[in-house]
Amino acid sequence: MWNRLASWQHITGSVLALALLASCAAMPALHGRVHHRSPADLQEYLRKLDRPERDHYQKPSQVMETLALKPGMAVADLGAGSGYFTRRFVRAVTESGMVYAIDVEQGMLDYTRRSIEDLRIPYSAEFILASSDDPKLPAGLVDLIFVCNVYHHLEDRSSYFSKVRSALKPGGRVAIIDFYHDSRSGEIGFPRRYLVARETVVEELSKAGYTLVREHEFLPRQYFLEFSVAP
Ligand SMILES: C[S@@+](CC[C@H](N)C(=O)[O-])C[C@H]1O[C@@H](n2cnc3c(N)ncnc32)[C@H](O)[C@@H]1O
Repeated sequence: MWNRLASWQHITGSVLALALLASCAAMPALHGRVHHRSPADLQEYLRKLDRPERDHYQKPSQVMETLALKPGMAVADLGAGSGYFTRRFVRAVTESGMVYAIDVEQGMLDYTRRSIEDLRIPYSAEFILASSDDPKLPAGLVDLIFVCNVYHHLEDRSSYFSKVRSALKPGGRVAIIDFYHDSRSGEIGFPRRYLVARETVVEELSKAGYTLVREHEFLPRQYFLEFSVAP
């Protein structure tokens, strides 16, 4: 009886968690475009983004190692969410660097700021409330723009990333991680048609003036692409 109750709670818990994630997913809008919708329960959504089980497929340590950030660098976490990666960036670039945590939701930025303060380490970070078509980054200061599970939320992506180019330092990079458009992504809690295929990302970034310079294949459910500004 207890086992049946526990497994029912597990199933309902998983369904609720997926529904919450779906509630903040890219949602269909007019004219076949997509747009961001605020989560119905922000606290639950944040908890879900930070759940320790996520590490199994997200492999944050390996992602960080691959990005090879150094003290003093400037990183923009575009669509920072709960700060799952932002906190790791703050540690990697140290107080001598700069982390720009960017989101369209003030609640996410507040939570990320508090979670960084809880680390009790000196840090340099700015928390930027973006608009849907502009991350409001300063010009020419950023070494890496990091976009994890956010690409599919963005609208008019070629023109968005075309504008974003001006934020990069010479030699700066854009790293994009997002769920595969096919069965490799597993259960994501919303229809896969709202995801963006890897090939489409490469095409859209190429239109925006970038070249794919590296691709990493160690994430089981997501592609991981690194771009630099085309020569
Ligand atoms: C699925 S969460 C990913 C959060 C984080 N990158 C992570 O990997 O844990 C997507 C985030 O993107 C944010 N977002 C959606 N549209 C955005 C936009 N146009 N500009 C900046 N952030 C956006 C949402 O508010 C949300 O925090």
